[in-house]
Amino acid sequence: MSVQIVPLSAEHVEGAVALQRLCFPPPFPEELLWKVEHLHRHHELFPDGQFVAVLGSEVLASASMARIAEERWQAHASWDETVGGPFMTHFDPEGSTLYGMDISVAPSARGQGLGRRLYEARFDALARLGCRRFGTACRVPDYASWAASTGGTVQDYVAAVARAEAIDRTLTPLLRVGLDLIAVLEEYMDDSESGNAAALLERTP
Ligand SMILES: CC(C)(COP(=O)(O)OP(=O)(O)OC[C@H]1O[C@@H](n2cnc3c(N)ncnc32)[C@H](O)[C@@H]1OP(=O)(O)O)[C@@H](O)C(=O)NCCC(=O)NCCS
Repeated sequence: MSVQIVPLSAEHVEGAVALQRLCFPPPFPEELLWKVEHLHRHHELFPDGQFVAVLGSEVLASASMARIAEERWQAHASWDETVGGPFMTHFDPEGSTLYGMDISVAPSARGQGLGRRLYEARFDALARLGCRRFGTACRVPDYASWAASTGGTVQDYVAAVARAEAIDRTLTPLLRVGLDLIAVLEEYMDDSESGNAAALLERTP
């Protein structure tokens, strides 16, 4: 049996929710984790944008996308304002931008290419749906420990990761799979490890 990347369906939702706790342990705020009702709503609104990696019936990884209007992408506002919160109330079926809301690979399955395979599924969707870009705002969870030893700003840190002079457990893989760094968003979400900031990333077809 091998790991398959498949569209999310109702049978995967419980497993994908359980994965959230493993992937975003404290101090990440628990209230920001997906609940069952959120994933059912994503599936209902945008089935083409939700993927999981499964080994038989076990969910090893998941990736959720929204589709948002050009103005929302250009505004580069907070996570909440961009996607409209966990129920994705700013979903726009004609929107120009596929927006990565979350990607989660089980800790025991990391470093085996599942993140890359989920990104390939996202990029295939980008081509198939004819959107202008894929975009996302990426956590930088190793910033806090880097800042404690260097005193540098989050802007300095992201630049260092982009130059491969520092390694971030989340931003480094996302740059490796082919996303381009555009900017650093300060006060993006409540995320103390990342200094509440995120790296804005893009991929165009
Ligand atoms: C970030 C994450 C999705 C990566 O998934 P993954 O399946 O481990 O990634 P892959 O195995 O596909 O690796 C992709 C590339 O990144 C590299 N990479 C992966 N983890 C790395 C790490 N910790 N440090 C440096 N490079 C790393 C791999 O070597 C690979 O590069 P290569 O193909 O050029 O060799 C995963 O670590 C995760 O779920 N993290 C917790 C949740 C999270 O923070 N999600 C993102 C929210 S913005």
